[in-house]
Amino acid sequence: MRRIYLDHNATTPLLPEAFEAMAGVLKDRFGNPSSSHSPGREARALVDRARREVAGLIGARPSTIVFTSGGTEADHLALGGVLKEGDHVVTSSIEHHAVLDELRELERSGTIELTEVPVGSDGVVDPGAMLGALRDDTALVSLMFANNETGVVQPIDAVGAGCRSRGIPFHSDAVQAVGKLPIDVGSLPVDLLSLSAHKFGGPKGVGGLYLRRGFRLRPLRHGGEQERRLRPGTENVSGIVGMGVAARVVGEELETEAGRIRKLRDTFETELAGRLPDAHVNGAGADRVPNTTSVTIYGVDAEALLLLLDMEGIAVSAGSACTTGAAAPSHVLTAMGLDSRQAADTLRIAWGRVNDANDPPVLLRTLMSAVQSLGREQ
Ligand SMILES: Cc1ncc(COP(=O)(O)O)c(C=O)c1O
Repeated sequence: MRRIYLDHNATTPLLPEAFEAMAGVLKDRFGNPSSSHSPGREARALVDRARREVAGLIGARPSTIVFTSGGTEADHLALGGVLKEGDHVVTSSIEHHAVLDELRELERSGTIELTEVPVGSDGVVDPGAMLGALRDDTALVSLMFANNETGVVQPIDAVGAGCRSRGIPFHSDAVQAVGKLPIDVGSLPVDLLSLSAHKFGGPKGVGGLYLRRGFRLRPLRHGGEQERRLRPGTENVSGIVGMGVAARVVGEELETEAGRIRKLRDTFETELAGRLPDAHVNGAGADRVPNTTSVTIYGVDAEALLLLLDMEGIAVSAGSACTTGAAAPSHVLTAMGLDSRQAADTLRIAWGRVNDANDPPVLLRTLMSAVQSLGREQ
């Protein structure tokens, strides 16, 4: 059975180039980058090169990248490194749990005051509403670049510019945008930006935080001097090398791959609309990353659909992979006005590098027969 992987927002397959580079490191380059001898210096050079490659993908200077254990830790470092007791924070109601739950916990414990700004039915936050929520004691604004469930791109420029004019630090979780959209932090009004390697062909368990030059951040942990003391602990050298290689490869091919993937996605959506006119693509009217389809097929449980597709070798997700197994409906979809039934009837199809033009018709055919066999609940 030919397998079709359509869950690239949950994770991506490791790029062969990244695998090769990582295998070489794991086999032969065991040095600790903090050691002064040759094996140590070789490992340091590998980390430095990866830093240049990751920085290159987002138009940053290498010295502004802090390697972390992934997107979640990058988010936490950005939030925790800025916030102190009594601060006010503004965020959107559709952030990833890594941001939203962390901020809600800080609010619950009485550390901060939090304003969550809603989104419209298109999944976009209104920049005016976000900036309208700013107060004199607002210490941080956090708005994701692109949503993991719908792919909807947020007004980073407008919100960032408003924050900058008021001198308020601005963080963006760009985990779902990096490698899918061209990003140039040199022309973006962001102070902090989170990345995760496994979302763009790198390994799991490694990520990074971009930190605008001169921006002062407090470390969350104390220990060694790695990562400018902002993230102590011996570096995950092979992971960092894999992230660097992935960043270089996706950066080189970003434009062509984004166009190719967008075409697959749009072909599928157009064909689906012809076959199932009442299927609703969430965020269709908004600017989206090129790879994501979030579709509500009324009366058809997405979890059941997912299992039927899986039996046919097709991997998709119901809502966000991060919330799979949780009973609560997706906070992103309900924030866009879907009720819990509609949220449960929503499938996420996330295209990527491993897909080709054979996949949209196979998905469509398999999906239609799965919908037919499940029938519609009234
Ligand atoms: C928008 C967003 N932020 C953060 C994360 C967490 O990243 P990681 O899995 O590297 O911790 C994810 C992962 O799904 C994500 O989609």
